[in-house]
Parts: sequence; structure tokens; C-alpha cells
Amino acid sequence: MSVVIDRMSPVTDIDPQATMWAHQVEEYVVSYLNQRQLPANLVNAVQYSFLAPGKRLRPILVLQACHAVGGQFESGMVSAAAIEMVHCFSMIHDDLPAMDDDDLRRGRPTLHRHTNEAMAILAGDVLMGMAFEMVSKRVKPLALAARIIRELSTATNDMIAGQVYDTLPDFASDLDGLTKLKTIHVNKTAALLRASVRMGGLCGEASEDELKCLTGYGEAIGLMYQVVDDLLDVTASEKQMGKATHKDAGQGKLTYPGLMGIDSSRQQVITLQTMAHRALADLGKPAQRLKNLCDYMAVRTQ
Ligand code: IPE
Ligand code: IPE
Ligand code: MG
Ligand code: MG
Ligand code: MG
Repeated sequence: MSVVIDRMSPVTDIDPQATMWAHQVEEYVVSYLNQRQLPANLVNAVQYSFLAPGKRLRPILVLQACHAVGGQFESGMVSAAAIEMVHCFSMIHDDLPAMDDDDLRRGRPTLHRHTNEAMAILAGDVLMGMAFEMVSKRVKPLALAARIIRELSTATNDMIAGQVYDTLPDFASDLDGLTKLKTIHVNKTAALLRASVRMGGLCGEASEDELKCLTGYGEAIGLMYQVVDDLLDVTASEKQMGKATHKDAGQGKLTYPGLMGIDSSRQQVITLQTMAHRALADLGKPAQRLKNLCDYMAVRTQ
């Protein structure tokens, strides 16, 4: 079955190397999909969502973290591809009618609008399954594959828990709003971003100290990323974001601007950005690209 790569993707304007890495990750996933015996309509559905113009931030984080601790970027490629597959699965399911009920994603109709709900559920499922299959087959040595699977599976399950906190909250009644909000965001969004940098570090054979720096950075940018997403829901247009905006409040979502207002949320972004910079300090110059990526994520407009 031949698979054609959609050259509209990605929309990374972070740096030319990041754009090149993003394309390589896309090609890697398409070629994996290509050598796998799967129904043609399922392959088409996966490609429709996966090759839509996403920012590819998670795989770029994997590769930059690997590079920051002295690894060759090729060492992080399988993990980079795998985490974008899990992210893509999370987006497809996030948009389903039973979840956020969205019609637009990455500037195109959501997968359940383009095909149907059953196919969107199944395409999400296979993206998650294939991510782990691919890591188990292609990451070498096996001990590293086991560590990567542990990072990715834990983060995937945390993301799912976060989606439950976000969509079907069942918090203790005495929990304050900020604690609830942080529990949602740390799980639904920060877990995969934290795992991206940790997986990159592991692929680059990071020392325990280096891994600790990367983890601190991943936790700070992870939370920051969702605060920015919440802000963009209020301040940005659908055209700019390629997805519906001005929806969170109407859907009763607990968000940073909803809880503390726009100005305090912006202040929170700056605080988390500073924490991310500090976490990188001991990694020195090789971590400059991670610092630049954090700065991009703090001020992104799409
Ligand atoms: C959107 O993620 C969902 C959140 C976790 C906020 P991205 O903003 O990384 O979406 P794409 O991959 O670029 O489409
Ligand atoms: C999505 O959060 C987080 C995950 C999919 C895990 P949102 O629901 O805020 O993401 P968007 O705004 O639809 O991209
Ligand atoms: Mg959601
Ligand atoms: Mg959503
Ligand atoms: Mg959102």
C-alpha cells in the first residue's frame, strides 16, 4: 500500500533544524505505517490526522533534549515518532463528540467529521498501539526500549487520567480551585511534554543529574504549555489556531484565565518560563535550543 506524504505539514517556525527534524519524524511514521498490514481506510484515517500541519513540538523536544546531553539526534528518532503518535491519538479522541465535540483540528475537519466516529476511535487506538509496538521493535538495546516504554506508558496513562479530571471531574469537594486546575493540567498536557524531554535524555544517555535538569524543564514547560493554550482559547481566533476558540468557558472547563483572569495567567506563564530556564542552567550551552523552544512556547500565537 503506498502512502503519500502531505507536504502542507508542519508549521514549525522555531528554527530550520526543528523543521527538518519534524519532516523526518513524519517520514519515519509514514514508512512504519507503510510496512504494516492494516486496512486501507484505517491507514488513510491515521494519515489524515497525523500528517495535518501540527507543530510537532513533542518530537522536537525529544530530539533537542537528546542533543542537549550530547546524543546523536538519530538515537531519539523512534521515541520522537512514538510520542507524536500518542499525542495525535490524544487529539483525535479529545475532539470526539463525547469529549470536547470539536469540528476543526490543525485547520481541517476533525477526523470524526472527515470520516465517522467509529473510525476516529479506532484510528486513535491504533496510533497508541503502534507507538508502543514501534518502540519495542526498534529501540535498541532492549534495556533502553523498556525505559522508553515505561516513560511513554506512564505519561500516556497520566494524560488519560487528566482527560478524565478535565471531562468527568470527580474531585473531593473540599479541594480548592487551583489544586484542581493544576491536577488537570499537569496530567492532561504536562505529562507528555515532561516525558518528551526525559525520553530524549534517556536516548542521549543522560546522567542522573542531567535527567533531573531535563525533568525540571519538562515539568515547567508542560504546565506552561496548557496555561498558554487556555489563554489562546480566550484571546485567539479560530483561523489563527486552526481549531475552535472561545469554547472552554461555555463547556464549563476549569482554566487559568477562567480561575485567575488573563493578566495573572500571563504572569504565571512568565513564572513557569523562568523556572524552565533555571532548570536548564546546569546543562550549559548545549541546552540553548531547549531554552529557545521554551521561549517560543511562551509567546506562541498558534
Ligand atoms: C494541542 O497541542 C493540545 C494541547 C495539549 C494544548 P498542540 O498545540 O501541540 O497541537 P498541535 O500538535 O500543534 O496540533
Ligand atoms: C487537550 O486539552 C489535552 C489533551 C488532548 C490531552 P484541550 O482540550 O484544551 O486541547 P485543545 O484546545 O482541544 O487543543
Ligand atoms: Mg480537551
Ligand atoms: Mg479540546
Ligand atoms: Mg484548549
